[in-house]
Amino acid sequence: MKAIVATDPSAAAAGITLADVPEPAAAINDVVVEVHASGFVPAEWDWPSTWVDRAGQERRRPVIGHEFAGVVSALGYGTTGLSLGQRVFGIADWHRDGTLAEYVAVEARNLAPLPGDVDFTVGASLPISGLTAWQGLVQHGRLQAGQAVLVHGAAGAVGSVVTQLARELGAYVIGTGRASGRQAALDFGANEFVDLEKESLDDVGGVDLVFDVIGGGIQEQSARIIRPGGTLVSIVGPVEARPVDGRAVDFVVESVPAHLTEIVQRVRDGRLRPHVGTVAPLDDAVAVLDPAVRRSGKTVIRVRD
Ligand SMILES: NC(=O)c1ccc[n+]([C@@H]2O[C@H](COP(=O)([O-])OP(=O)(O)OC[C@H]3O[C@@H](n4cnc5c(N)ncnc54)[C@H](OP(=O)(O)O)[C@@H]3O)[C@@H](O)[C@H]2O)c1
Repeated sequence: MKAIVATDPSAAAAGITLADVPEPAAAINDVVVEVHASGFVPAEWDWPSTWVDRAGQERRRPVIGHEFAGVVSALGYGTTGLSLGQRVFGIADWHRDGTLAEYVAVEARNLAPLPGDVDFTVGASLPISGLTAWQGLVQHGRLQAGQAVLVHGAAGAVGSVVTQLARELGAYVIGTGRASGRQAALDFGANEFVDLEKESLDDVGGVDLVFDVIGGGIQEQSARIIRPGGTLVSIVGPVEARPVDGRAVDFVVESVPAHLTEIVQRVRDGRLRPHVGTVAPLDDAVAVLDPAVRRSGKTVIRVRD
């Protein structure tokens, strides 16, 4: 089958190639899914899980991409809960071959049904951004109506969902980013916007929750404006700056079917607008995934028409 494999840990997009690789087999409790569309997070070649398996052994020529939508084409021994021909979406195991491929093997418990009225491209754009936003705000951030939330990168793939969900949950949202993202962040529902390159976070006043997708100095400044009892949620690694009187949490998103269902239901009823950016076929994926070319929104690779 055709797949995008990574060949060089130090070369980002220059180290990926379109290759012919064996089709995956379904292990116990797995399904094999015929992939129709796959999303991609441009930082993936830097993640340790791209290069080692769960036993710490080196992975050679890993298939990249981990969020996807497709159709179940095989069931592993003992697999329940999903059936052949079912439309599904979700996140595949970080340490196994991924979803920029014609087929992927994934544990059935990581997937949710994809409703028939949701396109595969939209389905593939939701799992990582949608679940990260949901888990960061609801599960880890314990967001309450009436709270003020600082959402970094509010025009980005994750930040745009965080902004929309936080507004729906009754929060006041201060979005941030570069000037070029201002209008998009406001269109996704941010109440106000801070241009991080020109304005100071010290002028924001206090917030109850910071959702950080950037880290470094921005995180440090953000921690300073968290009100007593507030929370810093980071998705860019261990927190480097803690609020004086509050919690700090960093986490990696998990593929929870109930959370996937919450997200896709919101897309169906219009509460959530997906942020699909560039859409391209698998044959063009290597060029399209080059991180040197800034692309707005979630890049989705169509594996099948
Ligand atoms: N822990 C997890 O489970 C998890 C899950 C998903 C993503 N992530 C990580 O979260 C990060 C964001 O992912 P994403 O998919 O949302 O990326 P994205 O679509 O590129 O969004 C990032 C947003 O932040 C803005 N931004 C970045 N650095 C900035 C800076 N220094 N000043 C101002 N604005 C800045 C970007 O603006 P420009 O486009 O103009 O640069 C963009 O609007 C990535 O590092 C990713 O690996 C972690």
